[in-house]
Amino acid sequence: TNRTFTMIKPDAVENGYVGPIIEKITAAGFKIVALKMTRISRADARDFYSEHSERSFFGELVEFMTRGPIVVAILQKENAVADFRALIGATDPAEAAEGTIRKTFATSKGENAVHGSDSNENATKEGNFHFSDREKF
Ligand code: GTP
Ligand code: MG
Repeated sequence: TNRTFTMIKPDAVENGYVGPIIEKITAAGFKIVALKMTRISRADARDFYSEHSERSFFGELVEFMTRGPIVVAILQKENAVADFRALIGATDPAEAAEGTIRKTFATSKGENAVHGSDSNENATKEGNFHFSDREKF
């Protein structure tokens, strides 16, 4: 598909970066087809990041992702999943390329400002978790 899913994580919301991050996303050619502020439960966070459940940072990751509001969005663009992963940059902002969202707005490898889906299948699944049909344009 030509859609991906993103979350602006609690650190970036706390730091006042919602507007600047959305500006970067739209400036890069992504169209917003769904958008809202929400939060996730610990159970949701554990499920979302279940691939990392055996990692030492898993508990920290779940606490981080649930400590405050997030902004979730579905984005549309040709080659959306790969192009959005390029726009956000490497997981660790210290390794992210200049001009990427994580290089510009992330605090650390753990608190890295944004999520971008890693496949078309996950983009659809993650978008459908947060948005009803009526909320998707
Ligand atoms: P997501 O888009 O959030 O899935 O990030 P990613 O695909 O770039 O990274 P990955 O799926 O490998 O890790 C998921 C998330 O776990 C990261 O975005 C970080 O928030 C967190 N994380 C990954 N590695 C570490 C780590 O070494 N320490 C801590 N504290 N958190 C980590
Ligand atoms: Mg990931």
